[in-house]
Amino acid sequence: MLALALPTGRVHRDALALLTALELPTGKLEKAGRSLVIEEGNYRYLLAKPMDVPLYVHYGIADLALAGSDVLSESPSSLIELGDTGRGRCRLVVAGPQELSSRFWSHESAIMGLRVATKYPRIADGYFAARGAQVEIIRLNGSVELAPLLNLSECILDIVQTGTTLKANGLVVLDEVAPVSLRLVASRRSSQLHWREIEKILERLVHSRKEEL
Ligand code: PRP
Repeated sequence: MLALALPTGRVHRDALALLTALELPTGKLEKAGRSLVIEEGNYRYLLAKPMDVPLYVHYGIADLALAGSDVLSESPSSLIELGDTGRGRCRLVVAGPQELSSRFWSHESAIMGLRVATKYPRIADGYFAARGAQVEIIRLNGSVELAPLLNLSECILDIVQTGTTLKANGLVVLDEVAPVSLRLVASRRSSQLHWREIEKILERLVHSRKEEL
């Protein structure tokens, strides 16, 4: 039996659609309700918060996982990325009020000490370090757009999908950080132990991506 960790929340439906495209059983999973472990056919699905998914693979609880590339970049766990599913697409951006734009794009000294609210402190640290600016990173667990509204921060680094949340809160994209999509990942150990089963899934992933073109 293969244990596959799946993210709950906004990308859960994308993950389910992908499993269907990969011909994995999803009947019970569709009706999971509040259950967090679902056994179906040869699979044990583990439903975890997106940010926690890599940990379940890292600690050997899950053999495989679907995780956003945003979450993988933020995670200290080193996993093997088997493939880009092309699903669950969104973007990581820096956003803030329009008035911040000229300061944001001037010399790095102008953004020294900038307060940045985010669920992604590692990514934010890397982004601003690459710009040569020391900023103050404020880690939040959600509703990040609230921070600049209430002057907790000057800007945010967060994901944008439709752009509705930014717009509703009077924020604009100041810079693109990275595109995001769901990736299929495994630990080194499970990719060796279960390679034959994983290979079949990968073949179906390649096939399903070709069909999308
Ligand atoms: C994410 C993200 C933004 C929003 C962007 O939050 O952090 O707040 O979605 O989506 P949009 O561009 O389609 O409006 P999520 O809904 O996952 O909840 P959270 O804020 O509690 O993390």
